[in-house]
Amino acid sequence: MQALNLNGYSMPILGLGTWKSAPGEVYTAVKEAITIGYRHIDCAAIYGNEKEVGNAIKECINEELVRRDELWITSKLWNNMHGETNVIPALRKTLTDLQLDYLDLYLIHWPVAQKKLFVGANKAQHFLSLDEQPIANTWKGMEKAVQEGLTKCIGVSNFSVKKLKDLVAQSSIKPAINQVELHPYFQQDDLVDYCHSNNIHVTAYSPLGSSDRPEGLKAADEPVLLEDQTITNMAQKMGASVAQTILAWDINRGISVIPKSVNATRLRQNLNAVNVELNESDMSIIKSINKNRRYVDGKFWEVPDGPYTVENLWDE
Ligand code: A2P
Repeated sequence: MQALNLNGYSMPILGLGTWKSAPGEVYTAVKEAITIGYRHIDCAAIYGNEKEVGNAIKECINEELVRRDELWITSKLWNNMHGETNVIPALRKTLTDLQLDYLDLYLIHWPVAQKKLFVGANKAQHFLSLDEQPIANTWKGMEKAVQEGLTKCIGVSNFSVKKLKDLVAQSSIKPAINQVELHPYFQQDDLVDYCHSNNIHVTAYSPLGSSDRPEGLKAADEPVLLEDQTITNMAQKMGASVAQTILAWDINRGISVIPKSVNATRLRQNLNAVNVELNESDMSIIKSINKNRRYVDGKFWEVPDGPYTVENLWDE
């Protein structure tokens, strides 16, 4: 499979997403994925399923389906563990849950700092602004994690170009990746251009539109990406599925993708997207359907009198 080069380390361009993969389902999904050839698993502490993901990885290694060094495992630092000295304890907890000695990639999950794990509505006091808890301090902890051999690469998620530029200016180890929402309805050309011209890779989360998000995180008028007529027509012409066509579009742009599935047929289908070839005309047809529409808009970080707004989150 095609791979991206992160500081000399090879990250398979297609991985398995585990956000929203329920405990009870994710073990089987990860085991099946590794069995059929996935070598990249995207995790996060906040997904609440790292222990189960870890059980599946361990079993695959014990059964000699795969070696640890053939896998690419990503995880993410949650918002309540920002700050230089919190990073390594958070990472060690993730490593314990995943039953691993090291990660391949560790990301700052959001440019949002919380004092507590859970913040409800009207709980402005549970947040810290980025002036109170600067990203640059958290990044120092991320750099230490590399120096201590706990992760090979470090990066960020949900960062705007502005926040990336600020971080790059203050870092010794540059972020290797920015993982962001990206799909044909939210193509992020400016961000991708900035990243690619600064040697920062991009990973697309919610590449299929994440229609299994909890109802509270969905807008009533939401367009359904997997039902897009233009892509459906193109997919039919090629004998591919809509999901495969979307994933192939990302891969063609040099963007890694982490589609989530807990279904054996769809896991296989998504993996086979690496073999779907799109020509220039297909690429520009998909380019033309951009709606500049986020599914994960970050509105959940906006609380009355809190430090975060959709505008300052995305710097738009
Ligand atoms: P399931 O887990 O039952 O396969 P995203 O990766 O954008 O978060 O999207 C995940 C959603 O897309 C889940 O509801 C997942 O369901 C579904 N999904 C994953 N792969 C496919 C596919 N190949 N075709 C249709 N739906 C898919």
